[in-house]
Amino acid sequence: MNQSPHSPTLASAKVSHSEELGLAASRLSADPRIAEAKELLAAVLKDHSSTIDAVRPPKPELVAQYKAELDRLAVARGGAPYFPYISSGLGNGPFVELGDGSVKLDFIVGIGVHGMGHSHPAMLEATVDAGLEDTVMQGNLQTNSPSLAMCEKLLGLANQSGAKLDHCLLSTSGAMANENALKIAFHNRFPASRVICMDNCFAGRSLALAQLTDRPAYRAGLPKTLDVDFIPMYHPADPIGTTQGAIETLKKLLARHPGEYACIWLELVAGEGGYYPGTKPYFEELCKICHQNNILVIFDEIQTFSRLSQPFAFQHFELDAYADLVTLGKITQVCATLYGDQLKPKGPVLSQTFTGATASIRCGLAVLDALETHECFGANGWNVRRHKYFQGKLEQLAQKYPGKLSGPYGEGMMIAFTPGNGGADEAKDMLMKLYDLGLMGFLAGSNPNRIRFLPPPGITTEKHIDLACGIIEKAIQ
Ligand SMILES: Cc1ncc(COP(=O)(O)O)c(C=O)c1O
Repeated sequence: MNQSPHSPTLASAKVSHSEELGLAASRLSADPRIAEAKELLAAVLKDHSSTIDAVRPPKPELVAQYKAELDRLAVARGGAPYFPYISSGLGNGPFVELGDGSVKLDFIVGIGVHGMGHSHPAMLEATVDAGLEDTVMQGNLQTNSPSLAMCEKLLGLANQSGAKLDHCLLSTSGAMANENALKIAFHNRFPASRVICMDNCFAGRSLALAQLTDRPAYRAGLPKTLDVDFIPMYHPADPIGTTQGAIETLKKLLARHPGEYACIWLELVAGEGGYYPGTKPYFEELCKICHQNNILVIFDEIQTFSRLSQPFAFQHFELDAYADLVTLGKITQVCATLYGDQLKPKGPVLSQTFTGATASIRCGLAVLDALETHECFGANGWNVRRHKYFQGKLEQLAQKYPGKLSGPYGEGMMIAFTPGNGGADEAKDMLMKLYDLGLMGFLAGSNPNRIRFLPPPGITTEKHIDLACGIIEKAIQ
């Protein structure tokens, strides 16, 4: 492989050492029996997964046993899962088979995780390769080639339109990626210790991130760990008012706490907040003011990565020049914190035993390759085209059933709508109706409460979107 270290097209399949090194590991991966075994497994998987090709109700004979399993799960995990969902372990594209024999059209995919849908052959192949590697988990002390390939791949993608992110720290959760970003920011801006966030944001479930997250219920009973101040989120219903409101609030905060802010933490499409994208002018003004005041900009791309017209939302909004720290996760199967060399910590503030499972890292690389080969990105890439298609269908439904459904409809492959008047009960009722009819989405936002979808960008087709909209129409009726 003779590519530049940050080449965005670094092939994930080539993560093992080149054969001319004469390694035993190279001979293992080139052994024809491995290729044969992979082919056999892929064929067997296809034979069985291809039978899962439509939404189906539960099989009556499996219902009692499935319910018993769900009851045991509720006891084991200390509460029932949100949906009565236990996968059988097999699916096909966006279709997933559950333990009661039902098949759902999965348009939430573990909140954005299963980007290639279910039981995809590329995931099987990456997992077989991972199984042949010497260790299950990668870590900071002992690392295998796939970790390096993942870091270089992510940096290459992040820097392709002008950002200057030199380093990549892998981690096993979005929360840990955000914790690492905050540590780097505080370490570099010491003694500044305050953070600026947007109203309605969500940053993760650690003690520190509970303070950033604008949901008081998520920090009930938890000690205060950080000083966080909030600015208004952009809203399409009042673009000028919300932009000016955010700028004025930011300026007021900077005057009230001069020199105390280490960073601003931004979601470029509010995720848990309801799938409201901001705009370039909104973010640019905020980022500019922050940079003028020596405040670092952190883009949280844990939900947005891979879902808009570019791999990163900061590229979609042309904010590359402001990307001091970037976090991502979910669809990449392993999470990461990207940062510039000037922010490299001067002490040992960062490390973890686990940086990611070998299977996660290899599958993540395969997902990244597939997103590119399936042409998800670009102004006329599939993410944008599928959004337009989905939005058009939802608009038709909104017209046909006045008062039952309304926009805005999100951005890229982050699709949402408001059911009825957006009341909490109404949204939950609609979500559960969709689930019973075979379509999986999830809630987002509050006041109004919305229904959101994260269709798997690697494999979703217009036919799948038609099916989803047919189910939404049935639920409305
Ligand atoms: C924007 C954002 N940041 C952080 C997180 C936390 O990620 P994780 O649940 O992997 O810790 C999430 C999870 O939904 C998220 O949407």
